[in-house]
Amino acid sequence: MEKQRVLTGITTSGTPHLGNYVGAIRPSIEASRNSDVDSFFFLADYHALIKCQDPEVVRRSTKEIATTWLALGLDTKNATFYRQSDIPEITELTWILTCNAAKGLMNRAHAYKASVQANEEAGEDPDFAVTMGLFSYPVLMAADILMFKAHKIPVGRDQIQHVEMARDIAGRFNHNFASLFTLPEAQVDDNVAVLQGLDGRKMSKSYGNTIPLFETEKKLRKSINKIKTNLLEPGEPKDPDDSTVFQVWSAFANESEIARMRQEFENGIAWGEAKKQLFELVNSELAPARERYNELMDDPGFVEAELLRGAERAREQSVPLINKVRDAVGISPIR
Ligand code: TRP
Repeated sequence: MEKQRVLTGITTSGTPHLGNYVGAIRPSIEASRNSDVDSFFFLADYHALIKCQDPEVVRRSTKEIATTWLALGLDTKNATFYRQSDIPEITELTWILTCNAAKGLMNRAHAYKASVQANEEAGEDPDFAVTMGLFSYPVLMAADILMFKAHKIPVGRDQIQHVEMARDIAGRFNHNFASLFTLPEAQVDDNVAVLQGLDGRKMSKSYGNTIPLFETEKKLRKSINKIKTNLLEPGEPKDPDDSTVFQVWSAFANESEIARMRQEFENGIAWGEAKKQLFELVNSELAPARERYNELMDDPGFVEAELLRGAERAREQSVPLINKVRDAVGISPIR
């Protein structure tokens, strides 16, 4: 039986934080060890250019994200791990799909619509600071997905629409030219925690409330101490379900540790003590990988070689498919 192919991309425009770890990296790495699925994970560096025009940030983020995944034990024998820009067939496919994707479909993309709406609210021209990259973003993402005939696309809720657009674009191509593409499906895991950040809102780079994944032990302790709490004194019962400290705890602890901490909250554990225990827990899970991360950050040749090997494997699939796609649309040798 054909294996399920699971594919997802990570935009390389930031430093991995605990929210990324719990929500995406940890489950993906677990999946990479499952030999019943064929996992494709890639660094979406062309996507990074859409929101980030600082070359140093893109370069650093690409290095940090690749190193993070490897340090955490991504199984690169089983999973294919590559950098989008190492697969020229993806950008080639993007153009071909661009010529078939309906503009009306792209007009409905949330990311683009949000920018237009923000402009309108600010009294600006609706297209102010909207690049063609932002507008065409879903086509590039469709090419990422369709290039590898992926079945399942694990994403956050904000990305479901993009996967549906990829499906739409694939169906249209298959109908108009040749049945070359698999129709992908978004996979949203409701059991995966969406982590809260320092201020209690969703942990996100755009809110500036993140805890970086591999900051030093000392800084991690400091960050955890900064998590917002209320003014309840030691001895006063605290509501675990209204606490970021407890929420982060639950993302790292096992069942019995969660139950114990719930009891401690009800018994009125001091915030300082709860945070101290949280630090110990998070740090014990991250410390070995942090050490490996620091080693690998000093060994860029190793990381680069892993990515190039992944690209080579990925291209075993993309080169034959792009040849069929080209031929289907009439780009072929004179004959
Ligand atoms: N756009 C996705 C995000 O910002 C990242 C991404 C790029 C992606 N290409 C993809 C995710 C293909 C899944 C499949 O999160």
